[in-house]
Amino acid sequence: MSEGILLPPAARGDLLSVAERVARLDAALPQIRAVLEGERDAVAIESTLACLLWETLVQTSWCGFYRRVGERTLAVGPYQGTMGCLRIDLARGVCGACARTAEVQLVPDVSLFPGHIACDDRTRSELVVPIAREGLVLAVLDLDSPHLDAFSRAEADRLVALVGDAFANATF
Ligand code: SME
Repeated sequence: MSEGILLPPAARGDLLSVAERVARLDAALPQIRAVLEGERDAVAIESTLACLLWETLVQTSWCGFYRRVGERTLAVGPYQGTMGCLRIDLARGVCGACARTAEVQLVPDVSLFPGHIACDDRTRSELVVPIAREGLVLAVLDLDSPHLDAFSRAEADRLVALVGDAFANATF
């Protein structure tokens, strides 16, 4: 038994194969959706997702949210992992690019991403998913890994669907 949901054991920090990661995520998703059923408070949803996605995505060293707190600014929200930057200007970094464009940022090698912010210089790859309403990004889900190429399109697609549903009726 992991924190709150049932998953096969996997060591924190390991990079499983893409097939193993997708199977693990597919096992977790119905359980995560069941836990979040009916919850509308954005911080409650963010906190619970940070916890349960951290348990599911063992390749992550940072798993959590940045929230839109101004036209040009993100501030850190609920997360698990190493200490993150407290504030991010929308002009900077992978999270900033996601918040500006409202598009998923799947970055297999952060050293090749112009303007990447090294909050933790062990980060090698990153996935950022926007949470948007009517085109306006209200928050982003940020996942960082010390492994290169630690996130696949299949995982990204599933996380887009999860956060789309989880925050559909949320109060920010
Ligand atoms: N690497 C991110 C910054 C956030 S933290 O590392 C948690 C970026 O470039 O947006």
